[in-house]
Amino acid sequence: MEKISRTKIVDLLKREDFGTMVNVKGWVRTRRDSKQVNFIALNDGSTINNVQIVVDLAAFDEASLKEITTGACLSVNGVLVASVGSGQKAEIQARGIEVLGTCDSTYPLQKKGHSMEFLREVAHLRPRTNTFGAVFRMRHHMAIAIHSFFHQKGFFYFHTPIITASDCEGAGEMFQVTTKNLYNLKKDENGSIIYDDDFFGKQTSLTVSGQLEGELGATGLGAIYTFGPTFRAENSNTPRHLAEFWMIEPEIAFMDMTELMDLEEEFIKYCVKWALDNCKDDLEFLNKMVDKELITRLQKVVDTEFMRLPYTEGIRILEEAVKGGHKFEYPVYWGCDLASEHERYLVEVHFKRPVILTDYPKEIKAFYMKQNEDGRTVQGTDVLFPQIGEIIGGSVREESYEKLTKRIDELNIPMKDMWWYLDTRRYGSCPHAGFGLGFERLLLFVTGMTNIRDVIPFPRTPRNAEF
Ligand code: 4AD
Ligand code: MG
Repeated sequence: MEKISRTKIVDLLKREDFGTMVNVKGWVRTRRDSKQVNFIALNDGSTINNVQIVVDLAAFDEASLKEITTGACLSVNGVLVASVGSGQKAEIQARGIEVLGTCDSTYPLQKKGHSMEFLREVAHLRPRTNTFGAVFRMRHHMAIAIHSFFHQKGFFYFHTPIITASDCEGAGEMFQVTTKNLYNLKKDENGSIIYDDDFFGKQTSLTVSGQLEGELGATGLGAIYTFGPTFRAENSNTPRHLAEFWMIEPEIAFMDMTELMDLEEEFIKYCVKWALDNCKDDLEFLNKMVDKELITRLQKVVDTEFMRLPYTEGIRILEEAVKGGHKFEYPVYWGCDLASEHERYLVEVHFKRPVILTDYPKEIKAFYMKQNEDGRTVQGTDVLFPQIGEIIGGSVREESYEKLTKRIDELNIPMKDMWWYLDTRRYGSCPHAGFGLGFERLLLFVTGMTNIRDVIPFPRTPRNAEF
């Protein structure tokens, strides 16, 4: 076959220079046969749209077409022509077809309309489906939106370590990292494992958050953000939890709670608007196939002001709801950690818009949050979203060395390991604040997908590390 340089289908479908010889490469989605012609729908992942290849049977012998089956990989030379029946402006009249990779009938994606559960079992192939193509293209676009937002605001992308010796959230949900021989562990007289001879000379884990090191960056560079993988060994088998997820954590010197909430709101709206502006084809597909309210919901979030209210107010509203007969699975009382059903009640039923809840009881939040005068609450801000519940967790940080060390003591956090963190409060301490956005929770929102396992290519969850 003559060598013609390849055109991506996304570019080809925009062209109008009909009559030109072109080459496309991609995978067969469907093949439809009639007496004189075959129609092949070819997709190369560059867009949700397929290009139609028209194969004139008079010009090809049947034997050579036998290998053009669903899933096969083709290189096609042909003439770009205007299309009437394909739903696109352009299609290709085939002149030469080379089968780059055959695909037999054991290919799991033969017919359309597989369940999400089944597609998770073939996660190595699901990027070839319409839905996952759309989701993973949008995942890329959201990552670009995030970098664009912070870059344009003068934040610096700061790389925090993945292997760490500290537990930022203090929840003890860490995956250990070791090169020790697990069959022959050295222990002291109390039966505790000795880590002196481990790779790092101490006990280490995969990070649950880059925040603590992010604060070191912010108290030098002024404003930073991290964007990287995060690991939590929480045994939560829910549609919103992953053991390995990606988090974006901006950290900003001299920022107070109002400014923090302004930033959280502006940031999410920017990302959602980016999706509306840059992912039109994929969004329209997801709106049609996955969630008919999707685009309306996205537009609404961009257009409405988020509701801001203290946790105590939120609890009062939830208690009223219970009195009024609303049934929650988990009890509501001042001091409880809100479950996603509570968060969604506030957002979807009561306020009908995103909510930023503030001033949580200190007992249910991490040690680093700035303590309020009342001695009971801290300046934490959770952003709650329709369908999702908590999408962002953030706070103003406690900048007082005395208050911070007192809290660390109360919680029995090993002080010795925190010396470098405490130095920020010892040397030129400054007011500062930051937040963490769960990247996959944002993706759940912008794609309309309902299970977090379906917005990351290869999900890691309890008892599942396939692929
Ligand atoms: O609320 P979290 O635990 O906050 C922190 O980690 C802070 N250090 C952030 C900061 O202030 N810099 O987590 C932040 C966000 C949550 O709101 C949620 O969106 C997401 O991370 N998240 C998860 N996403 C998927 N799977 C999990 N297991 C998650 N845990 C948290
Ligand atoms: Mg949280």
